[in-house]
Amino acid sequence: MNNPTKETQTLLQVRGLKTYFPTFQGLVKAVDGIDFELYRGEVLALVGESGSGKSVSAQTVMGLHSPKHTRIEGSIVFEGTELVGAPTKTLLDLRGGGIGMIFQEPMSAFDPLYTVGQQMVESYRLHHPGVSKAQASQLAVEALQSVGIPDSKRRFGEYSHQMSGGMLQRMLIALVIMNKPRMLIADEPTTALDVTIQAQVLRLMKQLQKDTGMAILFITHDLGVVAEMADRVHVMYAGRIVERGTSREVFGTPQHPYTKGLLASKVQPEHKNGDLPFIPGVVPRAFEFPEGCRFHPRCSFATDRCRTELPTDSFPLAAQPSHGVACHLYPAKEPV
Ligand SMILES: Nc1ncnc2c1ncn2[C@@H]1O[C@H](COP(=O)(O)OP(=O)(O)O)[C@@H](O)[C@H]1O
Ligand SMILES: [Mg+2]
Repeated sequence: MNNPTKETQTLLQVRGLKTYFPTFQGLVKAVDGIDFELYRGEVLALVGESGSGKSVSAQTVMGLHSPKHTRIEGSIVFEGTELVGAPTKTLLDLRGGGIGMIFQEPMSAFDPLYTVGQQMVESYRLHHPGVSKAQASQLAVEALQSVGIPDSKRRFGEYSHQMSGGMLQRMLIALVIMNKPRMLIADEPTTALDVTIQAQVLRLMKQLQKDTGMAILFITHDLGVVAEMADRVHVMYAGRIVERGTSREVFGTPQHPYTKGLLASKVQPEHKNGDLPFIPGVVPRAFEFPEGCRFHPRCSFATDRCRTELPTDSFPLAAQPSHGVACHLYPAKEPV
């Protein structure tokens, strides 16, 4: 291929991914044709307003949507293995093993009937059947120490309801990193936490990423945290990626009117009803996207072409990590 170094560094490659939910209201096109890759050891942020398809993208990569109730098309290749249509065993082996996931509500990751320690030990032994309970317990206590849990031996024997949200999120991180995932999917991991605790958890994730070399797919609606965390940023809108580039490119010279609006809105807190001060209107519902560019009803630059023709990504995938945008205001680039 054009760039062998990049090729060998690719951990996850997503091509033409669509995740559709048939519902009574219509076909919900939560993810509608996205392409991206995650390189080993990098932090890639997926950003966008609520409802743009970020979580469903992550859940689809994790194999959490049953093909019985969901229409999934396209390809998700993790370390050379195709995950779309893969046997359940393949997905179960990867989940909690090579791929870890943390999300907004750590409470839901723990069973209230077992101590946090018991669950860490069970989860570890699931992927390492040869390891004794005593060895796994030792590793779990060490993992708790590594995420900065004070008095970790005692905490190991406690239940999730005895912890604060910030403590629990760190415990979930400890549980996940114990299995040394090559990829961590973090879906709004700090959204439910107090601002000061948010900063601690983000710092911790960044440190662990540096120490372990794992890659992180970091999902957030909060652009404020992205600049510090991410090497690259992909902006999602209405099930599509509308802009992509390095953090410096996307923050420094945003191109898509949606990205520009998001960045302008960042200086003011998001309104209570989810409106962004610099972008009128709301994200269209995923079963009734407008014709043409899905952003056109909210865009002050929209032309007739934008109302009829869905823009394709100007971004030549072979030329990553250069800057790309799916907007008719910008001429398409030729792949190199
Ligand atoms: N299981 C589901 N069934 C039907 N629609 C869903 C389901 N999960 C998510 N959606 C819809 O898909 C769209 C994208 O959701 P989501 O990925 O959660 O957005 P984000 O994480 O960007 O806020 C939304 O319109 C949401 O209502
Ligand atoms: Mg979400």
